[in-house]
Amino acid sequence: MKTIHVGTGRSYDILIGHGILDEAGKLIRPLTKGIRAAVVSDTNVAPIYAERVIASLEKAGFETSLFVFEAGEGSKRLATVEKLYSHLYKNDLTRTDIIIALGGGVTGDMAGFAAATYLRGIDFVQIPTSLLAQVDSSVGGKTAVDLPSGKNLVGAFWQPSLVIIDPETLNTLPEKFFRDGLGEVVKYGCIRSLSLFERLESENARDMIDDVIFECVSVKRDVVEHDERDTGERAILNFGHTLGHALEKLHNYEGLSHGEAVAAGAAILTRVSESSGLTEKGTSQRLEALLEKYGLPTKSELPLAEIIAATRGDKKSTGKGINFVFLDKIGSCFIKKIEIADMGSFFGI
Ligand SMILES: NC(=O)c1ccc[n+]([C@@H]2O[C@H](COP(=O)([O-])OP(=O)(O)OC[C@H]3O[C@@H](n4cnc5c(N)ncnc54)[C@H](O)[C@@H]3O)[C@@H](O)[C@H]2O)c1
Ligand SMILES: [Zn+2]
Repeated sequence: MKTIHVGTGRSYDILIGHGILDEAGKLIRPLTKGIRAAVVSDTNVAPIYAERVIASLEKAGFETSLFVFEAGEGSKRLATVEKLYSHLYKNDLTRTDIIIALGGGVTGDMAGFAAATYLRGIDFVQIPTSLLAQVDSSVGGKTAVDLPSGKNLVGAFWQPSLVIIDPETLNTLPEKFFRDGLGEVVKYGCIRSLSLFERLESENARDMIDDVIFECVSVKRDVVEHDERDTGERAILNFGHTLGHALEKLHNYEGLSHGEAVAAGAAILTRVSESSGLTEKGTSQRLEALLEKYGLPTKSELPLAEIIAATRGDKKSTGKGINFVFLDKIGSCFIKKIEIADMGSFFGI
């Protein structure tokens, strides 16, 4: 088992190990005085893993309950949180008890938000089961739900007490979601880890998934430790995301997954930044080759002008410009603001 310690305001450990799902109870027991544990999971993950987690929690002396919601982004909303609050109340969860988020990013974000707000905040543990959740959403303490007007508009910074990552859970993750997570994995290589990028080039991600998770989580840990509340450095995690979010929006959040949109956004942006001299020559070709190797897109059939127009209103836009994350080369990045007035000439549209 590997441990990564996160030294944010409230510090916690991230544990990575095969089969540690069955040790959840033993690992969580020392962290809380609570006697009740509410496991939150979706309709895909609960039938596969909830029984094992519950057995392990009960063996460690917890009284357990299980809250299952319909799988999918559509459940990441206040209506589901409200049902979860009722479940917590009916099961007598007090301030010292604990919520266990068992599932992908939707489960972690939604259950984490409920934990941040129920009784003004109770402890929670993340057991991420999708690649995206293991390398990204379970680390960093951002919790949120969507509003009809947009994604992640209501939320809280709320750090978990522990993150338990069992890479074996990825064996049941549908391939399309695995590929989706790889979009973020490539991002980490691009912004901070040449060695990860090179290994992704020369080996197969699945064959070294433990190292992939460890490296991505380490990068994210370093970044969030420096900028817990997302006011500076954390923005580098948005490489590929400004154009990616625009692409997701233009596809009405259907057809193109988040990881695919980020991949295409990163490739499009890097082609532009390389031709304008901000990025070392050859970088975009290397990035495209890696994305193609993992079945991720590098282009969009939509006109660039339309994609750029859709970046307006991005959460990362400030005043009259948009902060983009550019690579100077693989493994190294910087943030640069492009003024709205310069956008056309910069993107050559
Ligand atoms: N908090 C953050 O910092 C952060 C960062 C990135 C993304 N996110 C959020 O994460 C969400 C996306 O996460 P996601 O892609 O994990 O979505 P998800 O939770 O919907 O999981 C994807 C699909 O895989 C299924 N699944 C998950 N693990 C499985 C397993 N082991 N076996 C079988 N099926 C499994 C789920 O039921 C779902 O159908 C978005 O809502 C996004 O906003 C949050
Ligand atoms: Zn992302």
